[in-house]
Amino acid sequence: MKVKLLLAALIITGMSVQCTDKRDIIEENIENAKAQLDYLIKASEANDTLRIPSTFRNGEIDFVPTDDWVSGFFAGTLWYMYELTGEEYYAEQAQKHTEILHDIQFLKWHHDVGFMVYDSYGNGLRLKNIEGYDTVLVNTAKSLATRFRPNAGIIQSWNVDRGWQSERGWKCPVIIDNMMNLELFFKVSEMTGDPVYKEIAMSHADKTLANHYRDDFSTYHVVDYDDETGEIRRKCTAQGIADESRWARGQAWSIYGFTVAYRFTGEERYLQRAKDVANYLLVEEDNMPEDLVPYWDYDVKEFGKEMGEDYLAKYGEIRDVSSAAIVASALYELHWMTKDDFYKQKADKMIESLSTPAYRAKVGENGGFILMHSVGSIPHGGNIDVPLNYADYYFLEALIRKGRIEKGENPVR
Ligand code: GLY
Repeated sequence: MKVKLLLAALIITGMSVQCTDKRDIIEENIENAKAQLDYLIKASEANDTLRIPSTFRNGEIDFVPTDDWVSGFFAGTLWYMYELTGEEYYAEQAQKHTEILHDIQFLKWHHDVGFMVYDSYGNGLRLKNIEGYDTVLVNTAKSLATRFRPNAGIIQSWNVDRGWQSERGWKCPVIIDNMMNLELFFKVSEMTGDPVYKEIAMSHADKTLANHYRDDFSTYHVVDYDDETGEIRRKCTAQGIADESRWARGQAWSIYGFTVAYRFTGEERYLQRAKDVANYLLVEEDNMPEDLVPYWDYDVKEFGKEMGEDYLAKYGEIRDVSSAAIVASALYELHWMTKDDFYKQKADKMIESLSTPAYRAKVGENGGFILMHSVGSIPHGGNIDVPLNYADYYFLEALIRKGRIEKGENPVR
């Protein structure tokens, strides 16, 4: 009897230790994030001007203009801090940082408005139902819809009349990242009852499903369409090491994007694609390092050889933390949809890795950003091995999702 009691006590103690551990990684990350972000919030205000922190380079915080594709992530990070802590202070800060993006709803010259407005206004609407935020979402969807090219059935990502994009000979480039803008369309159709946005989103998702993937379910970064005939002109890369390589963040957007497409449509083909991509990337041993924080391009070692020893010495070991954070967040939702523990185990492993000193900054360092070691674009020579505001955004999102799943709740609200 005594032995049985002792065993029961041990099991209960063991369980409570396990539960405490699970809670602790979330709690501990919240404490850490509060300390870091409280600094960054203050640093973002100068002489009554609110600025948008994007990264920390050469000892200085970099701030971006509102039309930069990353402009919504800091506001979104603050909304997630409100969600994680319940502290009104973060909601107030988030609201301020959201409303400086007011004019983005009318921006039509690139596709990233889905990211920018959904992360900021979208989260604000969901968490606080602030008056007028619904109109901003609808206006943004209208702006984004102007980029739909019906003959090709896709939303054009970049314009080709300006910047480095004008030097590639493209006509109508679509990048895998564009899957991330569909959440806005799905949501606006749900809110307004107007099916047109969902129809555009599904057309884009179906074309991406058909045209962006290789047979092994890795994705190209860029597919250039002829917007008049719908023909595919070229499949290539902009931010990966080579046209045939697997740029890490592209693979991450691909899992996340198709998971969201399934959430809003219930179409099995989207779920199947998210699973196929996740299975392929996570199961093959040579795809991911042991800690599941990918190299900035899965194929940097192979294609890097052609670039020479100097290139490999400089870029061959660089990880992209933002990709791990995006994938972890998507995998929690995929786990919820499939009830397959494999996805949660992998997501947990990613969160554990990102919570170690190898990737998470010490309080007071890293310019106030939470995570270190992300990559913007090596081919463009920008933001290499630095913190990035979207890595922090998806990391906090993943923590929220993990917490809900462990309480038996749907991770996404
Ligand atoms: N959407 C741009 C990037 O992932 O770098």
